[in-house]
Amino acid sequence: MKLKTIYWPAEQTRAGIIEAAAALAAGGVIAFPTETVYGLGGDARSTEAVERIFAAKGRPSDNPLIVHLARSEDVYELTDRLSEVEEALAQAFWPGPLTLVLPVRPGAVSPLVTAGLDTVAVRVPAHELARALIEKSGCPIAAPSANRSGRPSPTQARHVLEDLDGRIDGVLDGGATGVGLESTVVRVLDGKVHILRPGGITREQLISAVGSLADVLKPVEKSPEEIGSDNGADDEHAPRSPGVKYTHYAPKGEMLLVTGPQEKQLSIVQEKADEATKLGLRVAVLACSENASRYRAEAVFDCGSRNEPSQAAQSLYALLRECDERGLNFIVAEGYSEAGIGAALMNRLRKAAGGNELTIL
Ligand code: TXA
Ligand code: MG
Repeated sequence: MKLKTIYWPAEQTRAGIIEAAAALAAGGVIAFPTETVYGLGGDARSTEAVERIFAAKGRPSDNPLIVHLARSEDVYELTDRLSEVEEALAQAFWPGPLTLVLPVRPGAVSPLVTAGLDTVAVRVPAHELARALIEKSGCPIAAPSANRSGRPSPTQARHVLEDLDGRIDGVLDGGATGVGLESTVVRVLDGKVHILRPGGITREQLISAVGSLADVLKPVEKSPEEIGSDNGADDEHAPRSPGVKYTHYAPKGEMLLVTGPQEKQLSIVQEKADEATKLGLRVAVLACSENASRYRAEAVFDCGSRNEPSQAAQSLYALLRECDERGLNFIVAEGYSEAGIGAALMNRLRKAAGGNELTIL
């Protein structure tokens, strides 16, 4: 069934928000900006609304959703109490791009939201429009990223429309999102902070917020294949995020990620680009500002300074979409340093490349 999707441009969001909040309260599904990426929201207590989110995205039902709240104190509607470490994290990063996986209070949200798990992922977004919308709706809002499953997350309202026009009730346009990558998902277990998905809050920030209260473990990076065949032998007690087993953010073409010393990347990236061009592929290079002007390829995208991975984080998903749109079917990307937001950036680049990584020694 094709729906009429209402689009509220930026200058109309003040009025739009009232209609959008009413639609949410009535079981509708509405896309809205957050400081990370656009989310597709619905009342987390309504199984019908949540079913509509999964259907619109084409999302596998065993991948649970994040519940978004307007205020930190509303977390106690979803879970009974926070541990000292969880409390410190919520204090430090809410509102903001941190998602805490917490024991769910039975009956607080539809079982579809948690995919039947006994935990619920919660975050309080920092984006004013998101907070106002959630507040006005009066509902806890379940919201995955507002893309079709397997596509890059939307960082602009037009990306949402590209994927979901006719499948959702509306989209509020708040312009381009800030961080450009999703929130950091963490679980605190046995006094340790496990990073289930690196994101907008860096490991360094987590470490400084918890201080001596807890260790912040490095995220366990596994390829989709490894996770699929995982027998749990190595770290069977490590908590997992069901979402990480799915291939995400995949561009339509092929992608190669080149890592290793940056001064050596230039010649290898150019060589791979040339090989692909000779094979008749249409090549895009994703490069840092310092190198971008030195490449020859059909398209060269400047992703921002090598010392500012936050710029590359902001533009990555839009660039992947642009490559698809323009029919650029071989992408060679330079690797960035893993420090700070670089860790999340590299995580998404690796996923987009589907494990296709060439490391220069
Ligand atoms: O920045 C974000 O987090 C965006 C915006 C819209 O808030 N949302 C987002 O949602 O990225 P989504 O659905 O694309 O990713 C949610 C992630 C998935 O990896 C999922 O498996 C994990 O959170 N997750 C949700 N509930 C969980 C739970 N109870 N336990 C472990 N992981 C969970
Ligand atoms: Mg997503």
